[in-house]
Amino acid sequence: MKGVILAGGNGTRLNPFTKIINKHLLPVGPYPMIYWSLMKLKNAGIEDILLITHQDHLADFKLVLGNGECLNISIQYEIQPYAGGISHGLLYAKKFVGKEKFVLMLGDNIFEDSLVPYVRNFNNQLKGAKILLKSVEDPERYGIANIDKVTKQITSIIEKPKTPSSNLCVTGIYMYDYNIFHYIEKLSMSTRGELEITDINNIYISKKELSYEILRGWWIDAGTHQSLYKANQLIQKNSDESREE
Ligand code: G1P
Repeated sequence: MKGVILAGGNGTRLNPFTKIINKHLLPVGPYPMIYWSLMKLKNAGIEDILLITHQDHLADFKLVLGNGECLNISIQYEIQPYAGGISHGLLYAKKFVGKEKFVLMLGDNIFEDSLVPYVRNFNNQLKGAKILLKSVEDPERYGIANIDKVTKQITSIIEKPKTPSSNLCVTGIYMYDYNIFHYIEKLSMSTRGELEITDINNIYISKKELSYEILRGWWIDAGTHQSLYKANQLIQKNSDESREE
């Protein structure tokens, strides 16, 4: 399986830092934020990775990561010319992915779980997509999944609901088959001017092809000052604990 990491976006919620540096290169513990996504993929056996970012930041990423050799992985790059949303960014991965299944990660998602069991389960899934959920205290900030109490299937996902009917957030860790590229071509822009990944996931729901699992450990979207601070604390705590073992 291949991996795709989205590291574009304007990162406005992390101003003023993001006026001079891409959000995904800000420090989380001793490494740039992007390192953690790369390591999660590598540890799950995914070593062929495409990183998608804006032209203005490409040179910085290449300076830090190069072709991935320093991490014993292969990193290729594509440019997303403007911040048009997650599904828009993914369009630039079509050639790289080919007909394979792949894991998509948002480069600002930092989390505790290993991806190994989820990737294995998705490998065994014949077709469709898989998402990973986590309960959160601020569901208005995210894509939120509604789950049928009886069948336990996801019935819908609402992007940033004003009155959330669940607190199960769709994290930025997704697994797709190549049909996603046909579905993206059919999407229209949302009210916030983006091609939404939530619209894609709802297409998979309508085809009964979206599976899910719930993350066991902590998970953070480090896209705000507060959550970036929290991510630093959690990474530090994990590394202190592993030193004590
Ligand atoms: C995006 C997705 C949202 C998801 C979140 C996870 O939100 O649109 O569904 O829950 O990532 O980090 P955004 O970062 O665009 O606000």
